[in-house]
Amino acid sequence: MRIVRTVSEVRAAVTGARSGGGIVGLVPTMGALHDGHLSLIRAARAENDLVVMSLFVNPTQFGPNEDLAAYPRDEARDAELAEGAGADILFAPPVAEVYPHGFSTSIHISGITEVLDGAHRGAEHFDGVATVVTKLFHMVAPDAAYFGQKDAQQVLVIRRLVRDLDVPVRIIACPIVREPDGLAMSSRNVYLDPEARERATALNRALDAAEAAVAAGERSAGAVIDAARTVLVAADIDPEYLELRSPDDLRELDRVDGEALLAVAARVGAARLIDNRILEATP
Ligand code: PAJ
Repeated sequence: MRIVRTVSEVRAAVTGARSGGGIVGLVPTMGALHDGHLSLIRAARAENDLVVMSLFVNPTQFGPNEDLAAYPRDEARDAELAEGAGADILFAPPVAEVYPHGFSTSIHISGITEVLDGAHRGAEHFDGVATVVTKLFHMVAPDAAYFGQKDAQQVLVIRRLVRDLDVPVRIIACPIVREPDGLAMSSRNVYLDPEARERATALNRALDAAEAAVAAGERSAGAVIDAARTVLVAADIDPEYLELRSPDDLRELDRVDGEALLAVAARVGAARLIDNRILEATP
């Protein structure tokens, strides 16, 4: 695996692979890698000739009161893990390579960014994500890019931007990878002390409870959400949001018919955690 830091170096590597007829997969990350990230690299490895993982803690997607400064950083460890999972190129640009002096462009997607994390973290969050991901697509020009369903709204935002701006890249969404006790893996789980780490398992258990309610025939959104909320309350968790929305366009649902996205965000101890589940009502 090679580590490169400039756009021209990553382009040269991609052009080299392309000239031999190879196809290129991109896995965008902010580092602090865990098995969730590695599952994306493995999926890219299985389907591409050249696998590029980007590692960039993108300042523009952090709000002023968020954890940009504290965000865990360990490039040497990430490089070892990325190589082990099959990455060929680690693209780790410095901030000035991505945002040169005078940078003044932003990609804004309306509608689907105004709910859930967009409503709670502010519109700037998804503007920052959309802008950096658009830039990564132009820098690397991959055939396919791999994202985790853990960030379900992010996947929808990226699909929308690719469609709206005719970006020639296939977006692949990969399943949520969990710890053995069900907690969705996240770089932010390191912020959890042992007591909060234990309580954090309630997010996944709340999604289980909602799923069980749907499996038992419940179709009312209010009742399904209440089933999940009961589990959170028992763990002393007051969610920032717990909402049932269309997995296609995030419009609010009042019934589960077909597929529904149940999405949750909550502060647990020192961490802000998110999780989600696609609920399916079989007729
Ligand atoms: P980051 O949080 O590092 O996540 C990188 C990718 O890993 C995202 O696509 C995310 O959904 C996926 N991922 C994280 N935890 C996962 C899990 N438990 N299971 C499966 N996939 C998981 O998301 C970002 O970075 C940034 O917003 C980025 C897209 C890189 C733009 O800066």
